[in-house]
Amino acid sequence: MSITIKTPDEIEKMRVAGRLAAEVLDYIEPFVKPGVTTGELDRLCHDYMVNVQQAIPAPLNYAPPGYAPYPKSICTSINHQVCHGIPGEKALKKGDIFNLDITVIKDGYHGDTSRMFIVGGDGSILAKRLCQVTLECLWLGISVVKPGARLGDIGQVIQKHAEGNGFSVVREFCGHGIGAKFHEEPQVLHYGKAGTGPELQAGMTFTIEPMINAGKAAISELPDGWTIVTKDRSLSAQWEHTLLVTETGVEVLTLSDGCPPAPAITVPAIR
Ligand code: MF3
Ligand code: CO
Ligand code: CO
Repeated sequence: MSITIKTPDEIEKMRVAGRLAAEVLDYIEPFVKPGVTTGELDRLCHDYMVNVQQAIPAPLNYAPPGYAPYPKSICTSINHQVCHGIPGEKALKKGDIFNLDITVIKDGYHGDTSRMFIVGGDGSILAKRLCQVTLECLWLGISVVKPGARLGDIGQVIQKHAEGNGFSVVREFCGHGIGAKFHEEPQVLHYGKAGTGPELQAGMTFTIEPMINAGKAAISELPDGWTIVTKDRSLSAQWEHTLLVTETGVEVLTLSDGCPPAPAITVPAIR
């Protein structure tokens, strides 16, 4: 298998799916408040995707090899949870940092995006800095995407920025090719060396989704078989966009009106 190049028709479907995924996050943001349970957020997002968007929540019953089917429609990861947290009866508290990861399927194509929220609008200095640096890592990665660049270029800028700020990069999970399949080639590592790895070509679609820990990089999996946490229980943050490599650079497919803009640190590099 190799990296698929999407046709113009497929790209148009990816644009639609990407925007819908981002719009689920816009829709749910006002509900992300102290006291709400992650299960309530799951029900609201599920109903919005299915009834308003006529889209399919990709996580529901998703079962990669070696995994039990994922039981919910979104992923909700709080504080030291890195990714793939399963919605349930847990209520959000003021000052929690919270990742909501949304993947929709529309017309056979996937859009995948996640954002961080600081519950109640304010958190610790560390929590805010971790969320901001991780957003900068995502956009620094995006800023180097263009035909002829290599995947290692993305990994290097992310690793340098995370570690330069005293944080660490999770190694076991990465960005991924995406299209008619949820996860396809290539693997997009969030660490590495510039000039290494596959060369990017116009028509490739993949995600960048750095998971950055305030403490050490090591992770463990909870007995539910899905939820990933930091081994040292330090805070972890993640942001994700789905991208298209264009003839001249990059198009972010998961933008929406409510999507936080690219941080100032990365703007000069974006084409
Ligand atoms: N959305 C996640 C990603 O960015 C994958 C979640 S798989 C699930 O790749 F089954 F947990 F939903
Ligand atoms: Co993804
Ligand atoms: Co995702």
